[in-house]
Amino acid sequence: MKIAVAAEAEDTRVAATPDVVKRYVNAGADVVIETGAGAKARVTDSAFQDAGATIAASGVEAVNGADIVLTVRRPAPETLAAMKQGAMVIGALDPYGDEAGLRAMANAGVASVAMELMPRITRAQSMDILSSQANLAGYQAVIDAAEVFDRAFPMMMTAAGTVPAAKVFVMGAGVAGLQAIATARRLGAAVSATDVRPAAKEQVASLGAKFIAVENDEFKQAETAGGYAKEMSDDYKRQQAELVASHIAKQDIVITTALIPGRPAPKLINAAMVNAMAPGSVIVDLAVERGGNVEGAVPGEVVTIGGTTIIGHLNVPGRIATTASLLYAKNLFTFIDTCLIDKESKAFSPKWDDELVTATLLTKDGALVHERFGGAKPQSAA
Ligand code: NAI
Repeated sequence: MKIAVAAEAEDTRVAATPDVVKRYVNAGADVVIETGAGAKARVTDSAFQDAGATIAASGVEAVNGADIVLTVRRPAPETLAAMKQGAMVIGALDPYGDEAGLRAMANAGVASVAMELMPRITRAQSMDILSSQANLAGYQAVIDAAEVFDRAFPMMMTAAGTVPAAKVFVMGAGVAGLQAIATARRLGAAVSATDVRPAAKEQVASLGAKFIAVENDEFKQAETAGGYAKEMSDDYKRQQAELVASHIAKQDIVITTALIPGRPAPKLINAAMVNAMAPGSVIVDLAVERGGNVEGAVPGEVVTIGGTTIIGHLNVPGRIATTASLLYAKNLFTFIDTCLIDKESKAFSPKWDDELVTATLLTKDGALVHERFGGAKPQSAA
């Protein structure tokens, strides 16, 4: 069984760390890593070699003959073309809205697993890349805000006078939002937060932040069985905007994280709200990759509107690449160890019927197989 990792052209993270390389080797795998694949996450080739991997001169060479190819982003076309028929590529394959990209993986004859489709069930918690990466994005959002904020976060009572605590408002209290709340609290800010899911109320309070939301009947039913938010009605959005507008005007820092799976991010902050903030305020839009929560946020840029800085960094987990790689690599290892390796023979032997595989498998045997992305239900899962 051969497992390969190619360098990421578009990402700072790497899909394996020396720690998981050791585990793959113990599980019976030969691990091959493209030279420099870990450089942006501060993992050297020699650290990989010490863990038992061999180093290949190129991505194409690394994936040659591999049974499993680990990636962060979808593989480059030349890497995909170099994979053997029936190889399995596993990563954050971003299946939404790119049928051509999915067909390319099908046409290459590879089985592809989109880790972001992992079901949110207890058994799969340790394989949940959305959670592990969103948690770090929430942390990093506060660090990024603190960097451009020209005041202190904590209240300080000094001989020279009292410094007021910064006021931080977090919109969307899912995994990223809860970590943003916790991080801002650790820095000493006065934190408030909002969400449309009623379950978020208690979680926000347990972190010592104030919960702010329109708590009507629609709010009470706003959570799907999978734990995600639903798209809210126009009426709810109007009431939410009114409530939020008066609150935002009093905040120093706003961090937005609101997402609805498979849909554009809800617009939560309009230009008037941005203009109502005091000079020196900071907004971080973590949803900018999915259309953004904030009017005026620009993907990949830090812009200033009036006196307010709006941070729209892309790939925020990639800004904390060493830690992000550590958790991401472990998520992938746990999935592979649980679902793809036969413990007796130490061979690559996918459990095609396992719900974790059927939920995440996009392509197999030259076809799109995922129901949500234009495929029929995989035969093995029938
Ligand atoms: P997400 O990244 O899809 O969305 C972020 C947050 O934005 C969510 O809390 C959502 O309710 C909120 N949101 C959506 N529209 C909004 C609006 N108009 N205004 C304000 N907020 C809005 O969600 P994430 O972070 O992936 O988590 C969703 C839920 O899943 C959470 O309850 C989380 O605890 C749960 N979860 C469960 C896991 C498990 O059981 N294994 C693993 C990870 C998360």
